[in-house]
Amino acid sequence: MYCGFLTAKRLWIFGIATVIVVVTVALCATLIPKSKANNVRPVTPQQFPSTFKFGCGSSAYQIEGAYATDGRGQSIWDDVTKKYPEKVVDGSNGNVACNSYELYEEDIKALVATGVNFYRFSISWSRVLPTGDISSVNELGLQYYDNLINALIKNKIQPMVTMFHWDMPQRLQELGGMPNPIIVDYFKQYAKILFERYSDRVKLWNTFNEPVVYCELGHSLLVHAPLVNSPGIGNYLCGHHILLANAEAYRMYHNFYNLDKTGKIAIVLNSGYTWPLDANNPDDVEAAERTIQFWLGWFAHPIFSSTGGYPPVMTEVINANSEMENRTWSRLPEFTPEEIIYVRGTSDFLGLNYYTSSYATPATDQIGWPNPSFYRDRNTFTSVNETWPVAKSTWLRSVPQGLRDLLNWIRKQYNNPEVYITENGWSDEGELHDVGRIEYLRGHLQAVLDAVLRDRCNVVAHTTWSIIDNFEWMSGYTEKFGLFHVDFTSPNKTRTAKDSVAFLRSIISTRMMPTN
Ligand SMILES: *[C@@H]1O[C@H](CO)[C@@H](O)[C@H](O)[C@H]1NC(C)=O
Ligand SMILES: *[C@@H]1O[C@H](CO)[C@@H](O)[C@H](O)[C@H]1NC(C)=O
Ligand SMILES: *[C@@H]1O[C@H](CO)[C@@H](O)[C@H](O)[C@H]1NC(C)=O
Repeated sequence: MYCGFLTAKRLWIFGIATVIVVVTVALCATLIPKSKANNVRPVTPQQFPSTFKFGCGSSAYQIEGAYATDGRGQSIWDDVTKKYPEKVVDGSNGNVACNSYELYEEDIKALVATGVNFYRFSISWSRVLPTGDISSVNELGLQYYDNLINALIKNKIQPMVTMFHWDMPQRLQELGGMPNPIIVDYFKQYAKILFERYSDRVKLWNTFNEPVVYCELGHSLLVHAPLVNSPGIGNYLCGHHILLANAEAYRMYHNFYNLDKTGKIAIVLNSGYTWPLDANNPDDVEAAERTIQFWLGWFAHPIFSSTGGYPPVMTEVINANSEMENRTWSRLPEFTPEEIIYVRGTSDFLGLNYYTSSYATPATDQIGWPNPSFYRDRNTFTSVNETWPVAKSTWLRSVPQGLRDLLNWIRKQYNNPEVYITENGWSDEGELHDVGRIEYLRGHLQAVLDAVLRDRCNVVAHTTWSIIDNFEWMSGYTEKFGLFHVDFTSPNKTRTAKDSVAFLRSIISTRMMPTN
């Protein structure tokens, strides 16, 4: 049963519906003949399917450190944190971070202690190809990931490799980075190196992580590397080339490297769910839908919809705005009919990073947004319910129902694709008694279970972000997402299990939600 929006207004309807269902189920149970009932295998309620996988995540720049070791090249995050330390709240950077480059075996101990089935980590493009192109292959960098992958497999933890987690060789940025169409060819060369080297052992690949955040925060809002100031233009070019590069990597993988068909490759998108601020106001209903289409749909529609291409609402709005601005062409690049077909279907599952949700309403003014910009095009205000628990990260509130509603939106919108939840987690001060994280995971894993068992959403995996505390981008080391505490002052960056490790470990080993 799918409950729709659990707003206060609807709670009483839900309550009555629940009573009806309970009574019906009770009646049916008494009517089933005993002999037949005995043949039915007992179904344990609240149990994750035996095929469901649990994992933990991290990314190269956030944990590896060793930024100038063994031939690693400079990356855009090295460049930005060095040139603009004032952009990072504590003036820090990822130069040393958790030193996972040297201490990856400690990370594996943490993963083993948590009992995960897989580990989602990313490869640093700059470590493998220091200048970004194929003429600069760095054997020591490649060996590091060989060692990591082999050690994971030895410990029965499946590697899930992200190829691009927001970091890029600085030399490619000097060429214009993601908004330059030639990046598609550079990414393809990088992907080829990784497939050649690791595809015998790596069977789960992520091409790009959270392209909306990379393109929008990095190319419009001057919040993330590479700090490109091109709102409403560079962000859409960035997205266009990521979609084409993803398609190239996907097709190359299946044509040349996944010949035994045991591997999967997918893009990772992040989104919250958005409810209309007033569910009875059609403008709010439209604004909520527009908010999701502009965020998740921007990358999901070209790949997962039956028609392909950008969401119609994005094309209409951005084309019309571009015309009003007297432009010769639309700020949203256009796919050729061949490209629409080439891009469609290029993800074996939907990698979904879910953190939080919000309400939406049409924007009443656009003051404060650059002109043009993604936010002017989208034209909605979002807000939260102040009663939702808030994490150390002010943008992060615990809203488990949003995850369940989003999974159902994806099921209906894209014909129930396979979904891996590739990130989901909670930030705090780094305390060992991390009750906030436990409550967050409890609520969200229950939401996943309800989506799987009751709503028939095709969700097959959950990844907790993150295995260890790490460099949280422009928040530096002030927001801790780890299941393991990292002592950043100790030379050996000691990892210590927080309470949430035992909590998660118990869910993974029993495949059940705790009853207490
Ligand atoms: C576009 O051109 C028209 C006609 O020249 C003009 O009236 C209008 O102000 C222009 N719009 C913008 C946004 O410059
Ligand atoms: C916020 O949540 C509280 C508690 O669930 C509820 O009573 C209230 O109506 C919500 N506010 C909005 C704006 O939905
Ligand atoms: C790391 O260092 C701390 C003290 O700084 C020490 O207590 C701990 O045993 C060390 N751990 C390892 C694995 O060497």
